[in-house]
Amino acid sequence: MCGIVGYIGNKKASPILINGLLRLEYRGYDSAGIATIENNKIKIMKNKGRVNNLYQLEGINELVGTIGIAHTRWATHGKPSKENSHPHIDNSNSFAVVHNGIIENYHELKKFLTEKGYKFVSDTDTEVIPNLINYYFDQDKLNDDKKVLRAVKNTCNSLKGSYALEILSIYNKNKMIVARKDSPLVIGKGDGENYISSDIPAILSYTKDFYLLDDNEIVELSRNEVKFYNRDLQEIQKPIKSIEWGALSAEKDGYEDFMLKEIYEQPRAIRETVGAKLDNGSIEIEGLELSKEYLKNINKIYIVACGTAMYAGIVAKTVFEKLCKIPVEVDIASEFRYRDPLIDENTLSIYISQSGETADTIAALKLAKLKGAKTLVISNVIGSSITREADYSIYTHAGPEIAVASTKAYTSQVVLLNILGMYFAEKLEIIDKGTIKKLKEDILKLPSQIEEVLKGTDQINEFAKKVYKEKDMFFLGRGTDYAVSLEGSLKLKEISYIHSESYASGELKHGPIALIENDVTVIATMTNPDLVEKSMSNVQEVVTRGAKVFVITSENIKNDGITRNNKNSKNK
Ligand code: BG6
Repeated sequence: MCGIVGYIGNKKASPILINGLLRLEYRGYDSAGIATIENNKIKIMKNKGRVNNLYQLEGINELVGTIGIAHTRWATHGKPSKENSHPHIDNSNSFAVVHNGIIENYHELKKFLTEKGYKFVSDTDTEVIPNLINYYFDQDKLNDDKKVLRAVKNTCNSLKGSYALEILSIYNKNKMIVARKDSPLVIGKGDGENYISSDIPAILSYTKDFYLLDDNEIVELSRNEVKFYNRDLQEIQKPIKSIEWGALSAEKDGYEDFMLKEIYEQPRAIRETVGAKLDNGSIEIEGLELSKEYLKNINKIYIVACGTAMYAGIVAKTVFEKLCKIPVEVDIASEFRYRDPLIDENTLSIYISQSGETADTIAALKLAKLKGAKTLVISNVIGSSITREADYSIYTHAGPEIAVASTKAYTSQVVLLNILGMYFAEKLEIIDKGTIKKLKEDILKLPSQIEEVLKGTDQINEFAKKVYKEKDMFFLGRGTDYAVSLEGSLKLKEISYIHSESYASGELKHGPIALIENDVTVIATMTNPDLVEKSMSNVQEVVTRGAKVFVITSENIKNDGITRNNKNSKNK
């Protein structure tokens, strides 16, 4: 996730843009840049690193343009560097663009434009956009005042993926065009001036009046006017909304805290992580090229990570073993690195790290490399330390996680690991087409299913109010429900300081059951129809001992026993 700011008015744009970027820096900070128009020319200044590095560039204070766009980046394509920073400009220096989101068909578009003679200087997906605008602009033989707008519209209609765009053009130097699809963008209305941003907090100090853009809308802004269009360039009307948030609440998009905000960001994080990987005949994962021969000779997969990332690995163990028939071991990085793990050149070792900077995980990777194993990293940060050491790096696109307790990064990791398991199985040719098709459909449905679950949190709130003062809680589950329970238990400890343990349901009777007594709370997850009966008998064991049970299950599991025995059951 990156941050966008824009300004059009009578004031010097650069200080407003930099001020906005500073407020958005938490969304991405590997590079920053701004563009304005002066003397009929687009002027771009950008730098790798934090906004402060941009601010220190010589000449930045001399930018006097009163129209400008700005961006703070969290890399999704191409490492953090000046070339990969936004704004990007087309080959004719006529269109400058900043972009949030991911263009999934950029390879295809880049190929198309390269064949037409366009040259590219960055590794980003974004650079195709200004060049495509230029292409459509040149193709258009009508020379009216909507020519730039049409070129933008044609470009947007050619893009697959998500975008929030700000576009400057020398053909329309007193106007700015913005557009969005699946990536937020708002317009702040001022008096004789307009502000644009991906997030309200960046411009909240200038105005309280906002237009909130919807998907597939294109907007043309001048100093005094804001015109909205649909994707067919028909003009539409939008209401203005007054925002009364304080600055801190605005940074959290109105949520009480960053963790809650990030929980609600899960659908978007998953959509962006899945990207175009499932779009074509066989699964494609950028940055990964493993042959059938290599995969056939693997004796074992090691998954190594810390904390939440390690728990995502435990989910993957079940998936990989089931789909790929390769033995999988999951290990804690701080244990792995100090033993002498049995790995050789036929072991594939996978490291999961949201930040890509966890010392134990990096050390574990280096050890496996020394022993000759291939190393594959799953990270959320392009160019992070661990990705620089690995043979292969693939990415979740969850955006920066501000809350210490991981949520959207975990679910994105689980989804990417599932896709990786499917990729291996497809390469190995040990999965039938029907199964893979069904799995793909299930993954593509996930974001909207999560949206549904997040709409109905009242029951969870009610439950939390009942139990928040308790000292101990227990989580139970079987199979992947057990893996998810381990993460749930960690989250509870981290967030509420309630002592909590997670057990594989079948293990309960081998000792831990001694701790279950009157009024102890047990959270039982049972989403696998094949294991519901078994799990229910474990729930019965704890109910008999007086435990209060909160059941998390799936809507499609019809088992009267669940609801009959448990007043607190939650079907989602
Ligand atoms: C811990 C965090 O300190 O580090 C966990 O609290 C995280 O949320 C763990 O899972 C590992 O971090 P990373 O960046 O390597 O995934």
